[in-house]
Amino acid sequence: MKKFTTVADMGPLDKAVAEALEVKRNRFAWQSLGRNYTLLMIFFNSSLRTRLSTQKAAMNLGMNVIVLDVNQGAWKLETERGVIMDGDKAEHLLEAIPVMGSYCDIIGVRSFASLKDKAEDYEERVINQFIKYSGRPVFSMEAATGHPLQSFADLITIEEHKTKPVPKVVMTWAPHPRALPQAVPNSFVQWMVAAGYDVTVTHPEGYELDEAFTRGAKIEYDQDRALAGADFVYAKNWSAYADPNYGKILSTSREWTVDATKMAFTDNAYFMHCLPVRRGMIVTDDVIEGPRSLVIPEAANREISAQTVIKRMLESIQDGRNG
Ligand code: CP
Repeated sequence: MKKFTTVADMGPLDKAVAEALEVKRNRFAWQSLGRNYTLLMIFFNSSLRTRLSTQKAAMNLGMNVIVLDVNQGAWKLETERGVIMDGDKAEHLLEAIPVMGSYCDIIGVRSFASLKDKAEDYEERVINQFIKYSGRPVFSMEAATGHPLQSFADLITIEEHKTKPVPKVVMTWAPHPRALPQAVPNSFVQWMVAAGYDVTVTHPEGYELDEAFTRGAKIEYDQDRALAGADFVYAKNWSAYADPNYGKILSTSREWTVDATKMAFTDNAYFMHCLPVRRGMIVTDDVIEGPRSLVIPEAANREISAQTVIKRMLESIQDGRNG
């Protein structure tokens, strides 16, 4: 595996889940695979789960790990080509990327959408520059339009808990006080459709996601109807994708908050969220703390999804050196 930014990079999902569950059963079995290899994790944005789970995953594989918070102590980076660098940005990404690549064997990048320029966000300029110029395998730790490590962890979690071959999985928009990117919902729908589940997306009008990600899912504007018979409910906020409202908040209606009344429409569904979550906005205390909440196992599986991806990258590097 040379890059990991989308579900297509993963290959057949049944094999990926089987491999992940093998990793989970014996996460220290590949300690020698990563010996003397270095993972560089680069954060342009904040993180709790991704940082800890990915570092732990690399340590399970015997790797060395370097973490760089670009906004804390590094030179401010210019990402545009052709600009006169007479402002506060002291270094260009086009020099910084190959330099960073020279200190490591694999790179993980977190770089969120700006939500100001849709074309720039959806061309994934930052992570694609790392793929092009670092000379190293690169994986997304959440980019502008996708969060595949999260979706892989979500898939593993659903496979561990489902009781029917094709569960009904409902992703519902829920309110949030700040404008959030579409990365998590984009990836989640794409991965769940690719897994062959019965997928429904529900949101207020105006919150339609990019069809490139939702193709194969049903769209239902009535949340109660969408939740009927659900086996898994995945709550998430996102800002508007469609023009002219890209990146805007169109509603903060708490009628969309997932509470016990909403969960009663489901088939005793499990509740899921990628975290961090705003209680009282996205979900009520009783639902997230209840016996059907999977938010902690989901987060724990982030270690497994990251380890499976990094393991595949190490195997590719070593195959290339031995082949
Ligand atoms: N779910 C997730 O990616 O969490 P962090 O933003 O804390 O890494």
